[in-house]
Amino acid sequence: MVNDAHEIQVVWAHPSRSPALERMLDDREQDRVAALDREDDKRRLVTSHALVRVVVAQAIGLDPSAVRIAARCLRCGGPHGKPVVQALPGMHISIAHAGERVVVAVTRLGPVGVDVEPESAGRFAGFSDVVLGASERNEHERLSAEQRPRAAATWWVRKEAVLKASGHGMLVSPDRVEVSDPTQAPRLVAWRADEPPTRPAHLVDLDLGVGYVGCVAVLARQQPIVRLTDGDALVATWAAEAGTASR
Ligand SMILES: CC(C)(COP(=O)(O)OP(=O)(O)OC[C@H]1O[C@@H](n2cnc3c(N)ncnc32)[C@H](O)[C@@H]1OP(=O)(O)O)[C@@H](O)C(=O)NCCC(=O)NCCS
Repeated sequence: MVNDAHEIQVVWAHPSRSPALERMLDDREQDRVAALDREDDKRRLVTSHALVRVVVAQAIGLDPSAVRIAARCLRCGGPHGKPVVQALPGMHISIAHAGERVVVAVTRLGPVGVDVEPESAGRFAGFSDVVLGASERNEHERLSAEQRPRAAATWWVRKEAVLKASGHGMLVSPDRVEVSDPTQAPRLVAWRADEPPTRPAHLVDLDLGVGYVGCVAVLARQQPIVRLTDGDALVATWAAEAGTASR
């Protein structure tokens, strides 16, 4: 429950799919699910969008199906981009999914961004050219070959968490957002793009299990308290309302 205004509730789960979870989604989201070819993409979309409703609903004492999620693109105004809870402007949410993880963040503290990646994502060729700024590239090169993939994925999730909190996503190139190197506590070092955040960014690394890295960022004047929980039981409860979950 998001009882404390300083809290960020972060809940992660394995992707799954059931008729009951899918019914929580609105028509547009259900159309998105139907348009996906791959079953694992469908599971991630269904679980993450159902889970964020469940966590918001717990915080405000509503039924999850009564929670309306919308999105509005900063660039074109289209119905994509940073998700928001309709009719609850003080409630901030973020969604991430990758591999066998979905993660949602819910808080009243300020705009929030969450990200998860498998460590293996840090192996992609050209990572340091695309994602890292000049000083970060130097730090990356100093690491051993063994350390580099996890470090690269950690850099990536720290940057993406900030860019999701600000709502820019990939509208700002990640090499323009400098974060502390993975051997240090996470923090935003410099924002080298237009429209810098008007509130301090607080970053917290997330332990999302073996083989994954994650980070949550919030733009707020106060330090957050992050409550990280495994949401598999919660998902299973809601998935079992009707039908059987498939994993
Ligand atoms: C945000 C972004 C970097 C995440 O990409 P990703 O690593 O593939 O996916 P993740 O699982 O980490 O996050 C996906 C979630 O981020 C959220 N998201 C998308 N754009 C976002 C934004 N600008 N700010 C904050 N969150 C955003 C959505 O909730 C999305 O979940 P959904 O696809 O289930 O609805 C990427 O989706 C992005 O930048 N999109 C915007 C591109 C854009 O603005 N194009 C211009 C169109 S006019």
